[in-house]
Amino acid sequence: MHALKEKNVLICVGGGIAAYKAPELVRRLLDVGALVQVAMTKAAQAFITPLTLQAVSRRPVASDLLDPGEDATIGHIDLADRADVIIVAPATADLIARMAQGRADDIVTAALLASRAPVVVSPAMNSNMWAHPAVTANVDTLRSYGHRIVAPDRGELACGHEGEGRMPDADVLIAELTAALTPQDLTGTTVLVSAGPTREPVDPVRVLTNRSSGRMGYAVAECAARRGANVILVSGPTNLASPRHCRTIPVETAAEMQTAIRDHVIASDVVVMVAAVADYRPVSPKNSKIKKNDDEFVLRLEKTEDILAGLRAARGERILVGFAAETDNVVANAKSKLQRKQLDLIVANDVSADGAGFDVATNSATLIDREGGETETGLVSKHDLADKILDRVVALRSDRRGAIREAK
Ligand SMILES: Cc1cc2nc3c(=O)[nH]c(=O)nc-3n(C[C@H](O)[C@H](O)[C@H](O)COP(=O)(O)O)c2cc1C
Repeated sequence: MHALKEKNVLICVGGGIAAYKAPELVRRLLDVGALVQVAMTKAAQAFITPLTLQAVSRRPVASDLLDPGEDATIGHIDLADRADVIIVAPATADLIARMAQGRADDIVTAALLASRAPVVVSPAMNSNMWAHPAVTANVDTLRSYGHRIVAPDRGELACGHEGEGRMPDADVLIAELTAALTPQDLTGTTVLVSAGPTREPVDPVRVLTNRSSGRMGYAVAECAARRGANVILVSGPTNLASPRHCRTIPVETAAEMQTAIRDHVIASDVVVMVAAVADYRPVSPKNSKIKKNDDEFVLRLEKTEDILAGLRAARGERILVGFAAETDNVVANAKSKLQRKQLDLIVANDVSADGAGFDVATNSATLIDREGGETETGLVSKHDLADKILDRVVALRSDRRGAIREAK
């Protein structure tokens, strides 16, 4: 179920060119089951009509603070009280200034001032306006109110300039709204995640790799960031876009992955190793392309670094989570890996099961902890599985902190 399902979302539309994207945002929010109410500034109505937004949201739009008829039905206090979460999109430079000052001179600013709901602000403007110190200071003020600021995208702007200032697409805004409603139980925690396959060169044109798409690791990184963590994502080659709010470090081989993990483990509190790291690599990769001559060809392989074993020395109070992608004796093999590598939690994953494993959006797993606790997740989306893993991580961290306090 989507986190925004049956949530009251108030969309406040400002008078910028990106107002034309508001109907798409409304439609996409309705698609995930949100209950959408639109409010518009006077200037916004010069860019897009209330009639359009009323038609797509299937509700009257709040557009006038001082209209007695409107106040009787969707007055600003009503809007403020009803909202579970608010998004200002697009947020113009002027609207940001008025919000920072605590003004209440139109329906949007009055509703924002009267509400206790979390607020997401999506600034969109000319790149010089965005870079102006007055705008920077006002945005900082909004941050100090606890508002979530969505950094504008870079690209060609309607005014003809090239730079930062574009309002991001609806999926980004919906992810920010979801984050605004998510308990921030990983704030102050640095989570190091490995994801994707590795690629071991055979010659300049060929590699040894595996079927990992990176989707499970990226889901863990995205969910951890949504819950407030600082996320460092060490990623083998994938076709996925680097998740927002994560620092992504691209690597290619098992050796590069080990170096990147080793470099960042000290700064991390939690390590989740999702990557499908090659177990073996060619002993001596060739510098020129191997020609097709003989009927048989023998490739000599050597073991790659055991990244998890290498973390043991640096583990300290860190929570270590591993994945066991198996096709046979899934739980037994995973338990043995948990013990061998001294992990806190292992995610046993039958990659041969329908709807689970590589390159699908879903997964099913058994979460096994060091105390022997076992939880079957059933078939869930990779994001839901990521959240279940992070729930266990939060619980393990709080148990560990409790144990340390008792020991003192
Ligand atoms: C064609 C046109 C496009 C505009 N686009 C933007 C914009 O993208 N971002 C912005 O901050 N202001 C933009 N403005 C200026 C705002 O419309 C103006 O500051 C207005 O007072 C904003 O009102 P509001 O914040 O109450 O919606 C634009 C103005 C015009 C005439």
